[in-house]
Amino acid sequence: MQESRQIGASARLAKGVHPLNSDAMVKNLRVLGIESSCDETGVALVEVQGAGVPVLLAEALYSQIEMHQAYGGVVPELASRDHIRRVLPLTEQVLASSGRTLADVDVVAFTRGPGLAGALLVGAGVACALGAALGKPVLGVHHLEGHLLSPFLSADPPEFPFVALLVSGGHTQLMRVDGVGRYTLLGETIDDAAGEAFDKSAKLLGLGYPGGPALSRLAEQGDPAAFKLPRPLLHSGNLDFSFAGLKTAVMVQAKKLALAQDCAVTDLPANVLADLAASTQAAIVEVLVKKSLAALNQAGLKRLVVAGGVGANRMLREQLNSECARRQVRVHYPELHLCTDNGAMIAMAAAMRLQSGQQTASEVYAFDVKPRWPLDSL
Ligand code: KG4
Ligand code: ZN
Repeated sequence: MQESRQIGASARLAKGVHPLNSDAMVKNLRVLGIESSCDETGVALVEVQGAGVPVLLAEALYSQIEMHQAYGGVVPELASRDHIRRVLPLTEQVLASSGRTLADVDVVAFTRGPGLAGALLVGAGVACALGAALGKPVLGVHHLEGHLLSPFLSADPPEFPFVALLVSGGHTQLMRVDGVGRYTLLGETIDDAAGEAFDKSAKLLGLGYPGGPALSRLAEQGDPAAFKLPRPLLHSGNLDFSFAGLKTAVMVQAKKLALAQDCAVTDLPANVLADLAASTQAAIVEVLVKKSLAALNQAGLKRLVVAGGVGANRMLREQLNSECARRQVRVHYPELHLCTDNGAMIAMAAAMRLQSGQQTASEVYAFDVKPRWPLDSL
């Protein structure tokens, strides 16, 4: 990739645009964010004034879930093609509902990674084309940083420093967060992510895709203590996770029950499936809660931020809330609809990076994407 020419404070002033992290900033800065890393096309417009918390002006989302359901999981090529279909109409929708036009956009941000390469390229391509056409700078954002900073869009935004539990379909990480771009990895999964454990267990119980919400709904009717499932790495003494074995244990248990009843796993009685779902959820949640508490202890911090799709899980929220309350730990979540992928978190992360002076936007429109990209390398 061509070396980017970065637009820093002096270049901005020369062009009549004020530096974002300067007291002299008089102009509101509007960031258009585009998310296309997986199976959701998200677009949003965020406005930031000086050092104030960025404000969400409008957002629009199109979920491809229905399209991928027929295949039992995300089909990357179909995902890319659908992002192409959705991204411009969603952008028009966001501008219309915010009462703004493209001329009001100061920076175009997009998800640069991690994610599906083809899907990422759609958002990056559109963002850079828009930037070039408008003569506005662009900024590639880390998807997980978007999740991490999404609670700043909530009514109860956190303060730095905090421990972050990032639990999505592809990642499970505990991070120490001292500020924007100041991330220290404390522990992560050595195999499957928590979301993957939900999705794979749900699939083998016949619950379809995406499994997390379906499994947690079914779990509401089951007994979480019905089956004794492993709590992987619970006593490992470190902050790493492992969920691959849990999925296998669920499979072995389910097959044993099916064999005894001479039926397929998916034909097990509804109450047995509910018990299996509840026991699976209880195992995942217990590990996430205990490791989060251990991370808070290790970091000596009293603030926890939970982000990513699994952060929408009701049992996880309930248990974290009660354990954290007992320890005088404040716990923050994104708004429920911003737990899963969305454009608002990308616009927000870009705005906060610019605002903090961590990064400048670029007026070179050659782009690349990073399907694999460790957050602590930022
Ligand atoms: O953050 P996200 O939207 O996408 C990635 O970046 O991966 O997370 C998606 C993951 C999926 O694995 C999905 O099953 C899980 O989040 N998820 C849930 C719930 N809602 C979404 N898992 C458990 N309970 C939920 N309520
Ligand atoms: Zn995500």
